Amino acid sequence: MARKKKLHLGAMVHGVGGGWADWRHPDSVPNASTDIDFYKQQAAAAESGKFDFVFVADSVSINKNSSPHYLNRFEPMTILSAIASVTTHIGLVGTVTVSYSEPYTVARQFASLDHISRGRAGWNVVTSWLSGSAANYSKDKHPEHDERYKIAAEHLEVTKGLWDSWEDDAFVYDKESGEFFERDKLHELNHEGEYFKVKGPLNIARSGQGQPVIFQAGSSEAGRNFAAKHAEAIFTYGNFETVKDFYKDIKTRAQSFGRNPDEVLILPGILPLIGESQEAADAKHEELASLVTIEKALHALGRPFNDHDFSVYPLDGPFPDVAHLGAESQKGSSDSIIRLAKQENLTLRQTALRFATPKGEFVGTPKKIADLIETWLEEKASDGFIIQSATPKGLPEFVEKVVPLLQERGIFRSEYEHSTLRGNLGLSVPENRNTANRRQTTTI
Ligand SMILES: Cc1cc2nc3c(=O)[nH]c(=O)nc-3n(C[C@H](O)[C@H](O)[C@H](O)COP(=O)(O)O)c2cc1C
Repeated sequence: MARKKKLHLGAMVHGVGGGWADWRHPDSVPNASTDIDFYKQQAAAAESGKFDFVFVADSVSINKNSSPHYLNRFEPMTILSAIASVTTHIGLVGTVTVSYSEPYTVARQFASLDHISRGRAGWNVVTSWLSGSAANYSKDKHPEHDERYKIAAEHLEVTKGLWDSWEDDAFVYDKESGEFFERDKLHELNHEGEYFKVKGPLNIARSGQGQPVIFQAGSSEAGRNFAAKHAEAIFTYGNFETVKDFYKDIKTRAQSFGRNPDEVLILPGILPLIGESQEAADAKHEELASLVTIEKALHALGRPFNDHDFSVYPLDGPFPDVAHLGAESQKGSSDSIIRLAKQENLTLRQTALRFATPKGEFVGTPKKIADLIETWLEEKASDGFIIQSATPKGLPEFVEKVVPLLQERGIFRSEYEHSTLRGNLGLSVPENRNTANRRQTTTI
């Protein structure tokens, strides 16, 4: 019998919730985004469900219309370090922007998290889609969309180079001879590029998984190329058809860049709403949707368009022509909103409400959700999922009701296979480039 493809699961721990009004739900904890106990509980639930990783998203600019979770939340590296000390197996993935960080700092932070967690760190590389970020980092101008991906490529090249500063067996700690490390196993990077000039070496060694795992979520042309060239796990959103197309597209691009497509995992984000019957699950969606006012829906819609203020247009008029704003912000997502509004001839009000209260396919009984997960996996629309929750009960409920079905079907683990994130995701450990160079030089 052919071996069944195995599923990978991540949990997006999103404090008070992703939507504009989730915080008003009776089960919600309004200050969850800065509540250490909430994060510990969610991480414990995900680890008890043998999830591959928890994910903490981030951005670096807010205004009065930002969603509750954006307004007051933990910085990812800090909260992930805290979670590392109360968990043992689950991966710890955090967002850090390349547009407003220095590779040396990022390399140190993730290498530190990787050591603290004994090989469980992952970096979600983002380019930042809110132009307001520039003003928080002493910059006059936010880089343009495609340039941000050029910065990302160079940033990542430098960061990975720094992670290889020390060869794995460099530290000998020989108390007798007094040799702390082998001097020829420490390497400078001496990078001089368009955006960064970094000498190195980094002041921390590699961890057990070699390098933290690289995550990404590009959906535009530039974003897809970046993801297919550099990422080891890629987040996306969409329905079965769009995600299946995305899966094929990214795997093909990865192959054309000389990569093994099996080492590029596609993980769509889904928000399961579970009920003992379809009606009960539908009612959960209706309850959440009823909390979203049109004012909040317009704020939500504004986000992928660089926090654009949609309240200036007639609500029942056609969707306004704002493609240029999306093209410089979340290009992929804004394009799909414009396409949907055009295809279905939606008014601004209809588009905003549709966007702010999305009803994905994963609303139903535990069996229906497990069936859909299995179908997406088998039909090559995904290698796994990043699970989002509207309230604090969402993740524990998924772990309790859906995970056992996935385990029974033999598509999800009952025990962790490895102690590292790379190991559990089935990704190989990258060889240190300096060790590889040495090996090549000695064999010539
Ligand atoms: C599941 C998921 C999580 C994401 N997390 C973040 C995040 O934490 N911070 C961020 O700035 N963008 C995040 N994004 C957005 C992407 O980084 C990117 O801006 C978006 O997919 C648009 O890509 P494009 O610029 O190639 O069109 C996320 C996207 C997805 C699908």
